[in-house]
Amino acid sequence: MAAKAGVRVSAMPVVSYLSVSEDPPMVAVACAPRGFTYRLARRARCFSLSVVGRENASALSKLATASGARVKDKLAEAGLRHSEGKRLGVPVLEAALATLECRLQATRRIGDHQLLVARVEAARATDAFSGFWDYRRYRPVLYAGWQDRLAEYPGY
Ligand SMILES: Cc1cc2nc3c(=O)[nH]c(=O)nc-3n(C[C@H](O)[C@H](O)[C@H](O)COP(=O)(O)O)c2cc1C
Repeated sequence: MAAKAGVRVSAMPVVSYLSVSEDPPMVAVACAPRGFTYRLARRARCFSLSVVGRENASALSKLATASGARVKDKLAEAGLRHSEGKRLGVPVLEAALATLECRLQATRRIGDHQLLVARVEAARATDAFSGFWDYRRYRPVLYAGWQDRLAEYPGY
């Protein structure tokens, strides 16, 4: 998940992504309220969600272990180039295999997290996605736990 407000850019890995509506297309993400990316997304009222391949796993680990509050552009610090999304101007990772540009519609406190519900305003995917993911070409980071860095499931 990536967001930009003013000149500040931040991003974090999220496992809480959920598709919540087909028509209109809507998604949800649960965010810890102390997170900097969350705060930027609330301020800008939009964010992007990207799927990245396992070649970027170490960059994702960096996004998970540092706060964006300490740097101007957390994506650049992690070595992930980005450009502005065509629809909402949200940060879009150049390395992304798929990206959604999302406009925030509603927030709701759920336990110790804030649920962000957003409408998908634009979507793009690489050729690795053609109705379904071709796992011979798309090699996702599969979340299998955390031990100082993302633990990857090696068996595929
Ligand atoms: C695999 C993985 C999934 C994560 N999922 C979430 C999530 O869904 N929501 C959340 O708030 N934090 C999640 N985190 C933690 C944030 O990525 C982490 O706290 C990050 O440093 C926040 O950075 P920020 O303060 O710059 O936004 C996850 C971390 C990992 C490693």
